[in-house]
Formats: sequence, structure tokens, C-alpha cells
Amino acid sequence: MTYAQVYGQWQADPEGFWLQAAGGIDWVTKPTRALNDSRAPLYEWFTDATVNTCWNAVDRHVIAGRGKQPAIIHDSPVTGTKHVITYAELQDRVARLAGALRAKGIQKGDRVIIYMPMVPEALEAMLACARLGAIHSVVFGGFAASELAVRIDDCTPKAIIAASCGIEPARVVHYKPLLDAAIDMATHKPAFCVIFQREQEVAKLTEGRDVAWHEFQYGVQPADCVPVEGNHPAYILYTSGTTGAPKGVVRPTAGHLVAVNWTMRAIYNCGAGDVFWAASDVGWVVGHSYICYAPLIAGCTTIVYEGKPVGTPDAAAFWRVIAEHKVKSFFTAPTALRAIKRDDPEGKLVPHLPSLQALYLAGERADPDTIHWAQRHLKVPVIDHWWQTETGYAIAANPLGIEALPVKIGSPSVAMPGYDVQVLDEGGHPVSPGTLGAIAIKLPLPPGTLPTLWNAEERFIKSYLAHFPGYYETGDAGYVDADGYLYIMARTDDVINVAGHRLSTGAMEEVLAGHKDVAECAVIGVADDLKGQSPLGFLCLNKGAGRDHAEVVKECVALMREKIGPVADFKRAVVVDRLPKTRSGKILRGTMVKIADNQPWKMPATIDDPAILDEITQALKSLGLARG
Ligand code: COA
Ligand code: AMP
Repeated sequence: MTYAQVYGQWQADPEGFWLQAAGGIDWVTKPTRALNDSRAPLYEWFTDATVNTCWNAVDRHVIAGRGKQPAIIHDSPVTGTKHVITYAELQDRVARLAGALRAKGIQKGDRVIIYMPMVPEALEAMLACARLGAIHSVVFGGFAASELAVRIDDCTPKAIIAASCGIEPARVVHYKPLLDAAIDMATHKPAFCVIFQREQEVAKLTEGRDVAWHEFQYGVQPADCVPVEGNHPAYILYTSGTTGAPKGVVRPTAGHLVAVNWTMRAIYNCGAGDVFWAASDVGWVVGHSYICYAPLIAGCTTIVYEGKPVGTPDAAAFWRVIAEHKVKSFFTAPTALRAIKRDDPEGKLVPHLPSLQALYLAGERADPDTIHWAQRHLKVPVIDHWWQTETGYAIAANPLGIEALPVKIGSPSVAMPGYDVQVLDEGGHPVSPGTLGAIAIKLPLPPGTLPTLWNAEERFIKSYLAHFPGYYETGDAGYVDADGYLYIMARTDDVINVAGHRLSTGAMEEVLAGHKDVAECAVIGVADDLKGQSPLGFLCLNKGAGRDHAEVVKECVALMREKIGPVADFKRAVVVDRLPKTRSGKILRGTMVKIADNQPWKMPATIDDPAILDEITQALKSLGLARG
């Protein structure tokens, strides 16, 4: 079948399409219906089914005779180790961990925070929660303690599973002190913490609260898989919103299983026995869907890579992993390729990679230079695809497993079945091809996408459904061409994308506003050759603060690292007298971005005092920006 036929099949009978896709999953109770629209515009999928995610990701493959196949390959250049875990071993390890968690009181519906680096134990912790029907929330290691504390208070976990440390090339990330500080800060206290002690750093356990990963599993009864309802939350993953408070995206169990399993063949052209590698982090949605769940659900071997694209030890690291482990489909962010291209512009370090079928890019706009470089040197299709934490899998892609469509550089290709993507004007009316607008998806969203935000249904409706009734608002702007190819051009909110990491400038402004000498501030994302965007702060100081500007900037950089974490990558700020605003007081961030990036810009008609833009331009020039 062609892509057009498959998409047409879904359009003609969405219910039938997803029930057929549900055939790829082992059910405890089979679904009789796909969509539940009884609370429209809030939708759920497969609500009358019961199922277990861990069973589908692990146990069923052992029963099918794949027990000896590698399930996880841990390749860790930062520790100089490699380790293979077969499906049979994974089943044993996960059942024991789940048994130990159960013995400590973890049950279906309890929340468990996982705070771990790129080690197989992170996946095992996720799967052990899934086995019990406990709801995990993985927190990325590059966040500061206060970000962890916010998540602890929002999802109120009964337990936290953490590693003693993570390894960044230049330093050891001390997880345990961050964990302790976060628990101190949070109002909610977990009943217990499980600490996975790594060789590189053994953490001191807190008596009465902490248990050690190996010891607490000693002698326990392994746990069987607990069936859960189709709409039971599999996990909560926090992502940046427009305010400082992160949004807890809820992933429903059955829809997630059906949809990501479907994508493994349709989009990534992978099935049981194939080796799949997503070079991301378990703390992000790509890591949830394509390091942990989807490849395992499909019976593939997944690679857990603890290293960087460059510097561990060089720009050939990715190619070494692909060649050594015979990776078939490889997924990374454009920023990682830009880092490799910078070190190896001629592609001299790229060997012949016979196993590799295609390279997939997502997380940010894939720039044409990067795509050309990859096409030239890897000699495989380079597939840009577009998705969000909220959806959990691609909204638009080039579905290699169905049909390799012509690649149009700059476009993540076409809408996947399940997604009716529309470009709307401010009034919510679809615009004609080639016209820029807000990208929205006609409701209902397909299975596996977020049904709501954790404990925040009102916020879910306000953030995504209120602006364009009948649609889900993606927060991205762009256009569709005459062939139905999508082009994602910008965000419509204050989210910026730094090295493939989604960050909120609003949250950063809240941090800067907390500095005692800062009266007013703005944060914008300016273009960055390597990371796509880079945050830049403007600070107006309190009258009479009498402070050295460089000192205040230094303190603000340190404050951001302390409050949000190194991942914010906030390294630059500048002190200015005033910020450019509209007459109604709205800061003209968009204009500042255009000036910084040397893009054409017009004086906003509503500006209060045009002279301020000269001051801003001078400030940007002092940072080497606005050179145009
Ligand atoms: N734990 C703790 N700290 C982390 C971290 C983690 N898991 N990941 C990143 N950090 C830190 C880095 O050490 C760095 O700290 P520093 O300010 O002390 O140097 C900071 O966060 C910023 O990191 P990053 O933006 O990743 O920059 P980098 O210079 O270390 O690396 C790249 C640049 C391009 C190589 C890197 O960003 C990269 O590989 N990006 C791909 C991202 C990706 O795959 N995203 C997933 C989306 S699909
Ligand atoms: P996240 O939720 O962290 O996955 O970030 C999602 C956002 O990243 C999207 O809303 C887009 O702004 C951006 N993004 C992801 N993939 C792409 C892509 N292929 N092209 C352009 N932008 C993308």
C-alpha cells in the first residue's frame, strides 16, 4: 500500500484503523472500541481494554523464543564499558526490581520519580513501574534540584529511584546531593528512595529513607505483570510551558502501546531482531518512546548510549556505535550532527555503514546544510520528522516502512495517519497552501497522545484546546505546500529550542526576576550555529543598585544554573536601561530576536519609544550579535 492509501484508510475509518493496529499488542482484555468520545473535547482510547506495557515490551518476547536476543546494549564511552542484556535477563531483572518495589508498598497508580543517567537500570526502573501499573516520571539529569523539587510536589511520588551519579565528559554529576536538596525543598516527601550505586561514585545513603538498588532486591519474590485499564497513565513527563511551572504530560497506557508499536514498522521500518538506536536521553520524550518503549515493544535491540556526539572520544563515536552494533535505524537531533560536522566537515571519519538503513532527525528544525552533509557522507535517506512531548511520536514524517516519499529538504514531510494537521489564521480558519499560520491538529488526537495534564485539566484545556475550538494547538507555526508537505518554522509561544532541548524563556525570566538587583528582564532565544538557539538575557537593574554590571551578569548566570540547571545553557546576559515595549506594556521580544539575528524587521507600530531599540541594538553589538 502507498502512504496515500494508508492515510486514506485511516481517514475513512479511524476506529477500524486503530483497532487493526491494536492487533500488534498482547491484551489481557481486548478492546471492543478504539475511541471514547463521551467527554469530548477530552478524548481517550481503548478505555474498555486491559493490558500491561511491561508484558508487551519484555515477557512476550521471551515466550516467543527471543530470550537470548539482546534487548539492551549499554555502550558507555564515558565509563569505558559495554554491556549486553538479553530479553530473558531483562525479564528477570525487571521482575525482581518490581518485586522489591512492591514489597516496599508500591502499587498500581502510585507515582515513582526516576532520576538516572543513561544506564540500563533507568530503563529497568521504567519497566518495573510499568509492570506494577505504577506511574513513572523520569527527570532529566541536567536539571537543578529546584526543578526536581517542583516535579516532586506536582506528582507526589511514593518513591524516587536515583543513581549515585551521572558522567558528563568534563565532570561527575552528583545526583545524590541534588536529590537530597530537592527532597529538602519539596513539601511532599517520598516514603523511600532507591539508590543505584555506580562505581564512579558511591553515595552516602540517608538512613531510614534510602535503600540500595541491589540490597533491597535481595530475596524478594519477583512480581508478575499487573493488568491496567487502557486509559491508565503509563507515565508523566514534564515539559516546558509558557510559565515557570512545567506541564505534566500524561501518557495513556494502551494508546501508547498501539501507536508506538505501529510507528516502529511504518516510520522506522524496524521489527523484531533489528537494532534500533535513538541517541537521546531517557529524560526526554524521545528517550521514553524510542530508547525504551517502542523498540522493546517491537522486539528490537535498543542501544543505551552514555556519551556525546563529539569528545567521547571524537566525532566518529556515533559511527563506531552504528558499525559495532549493526544499527539499522538511527535517530538523533540535528544539533548533534552539527557538532560532528564542525569537527569533521569533510566526513573523513564516516566509515562505510552497511547495516544503516536511514537516519532520522527530530527535536528542532533540521537545517539544509546538516541534511546535505548527512546525505553525502552516510549515503542513506535522511528523514526529518516532527513531533512533541505531548504527542509522544511523529505527527509528520516520511514513513519509510510504508513508502519512501520524495524528501523535500526543510520539511518533515507529511502528516501521519491519526493526525489531521491544519494551518490556521488568527481567527481559526484554515489558510491556503504556502501561507504561514498556526499549526493545529483537528481533534481527536490519535491514540497515545496526551489526554490531559497531570492534575491540571483546566490548564490542559487552556493551553491546548481553547484558542482554536475543535483543534489541538501545537504551539508551532509554519505552512503546508501544495503537495501536503509541512514546514515547521517557529514557535508561537515563548518556548525556545537549545541543542534539541525544549526550554521556556518565561521560566528563565522568572529566575532572573528573583535576583535582588534586577527590576525587570527579558530572555530571548538568538540563533546559534551549533545549538539552533541560545538564550540571552536583558537585565534592567533597580535604581540605585550601584552594582558592577559584569558582576550582576555573572550572578544571574550562576542563579540560572542553580535554579533551572546546566541544561538551560544560560551563559549570556546584558544590562540595559530599558526594555522595548508596546504602549500597552508588552515586551517586544520578537523584534529583539530579529535584530539580534540580523533578520529584516519593521518598527512595530505600537512601540512606546522607538529610541530604546537603538540601545538594544548597541547592547547586542557589544555581544557580537546584530552585526547586519
Ligand atoms: N546531566 C547533567 N548535565 C548535563 C546533561 C545531563 N544528562 N546533559 C547536558 N548537561 C550539561 C552539559 O554538561 C553542559 O554543562 P556545562 O554548562 O557545564 O558545559 C550543559 O548541560 C549544556 O549541555 P548541552 O546543551 O548538551 O551542550 P554541550 O556543549 O555539552 O553539548 C551537543 C553540545 C550538541 C554535543 C549536545 O547538546 C548534544 O549532544 N545534543 C543532542 C541533544 C539531544 O539528543 N536531544 C534530544 C532531543 S531528540
Ligand atoms: P519536545 O516536546 O521537547 O520534543 O519539543 C517539541 C518541539 O520541538 C516542537 O513543538 C517543535 O517546536 C520542535 N521540533 C521538534 N521536531 C521538529 C522538527 N522536525 N522540525 C522543526 N521543529 C521541531
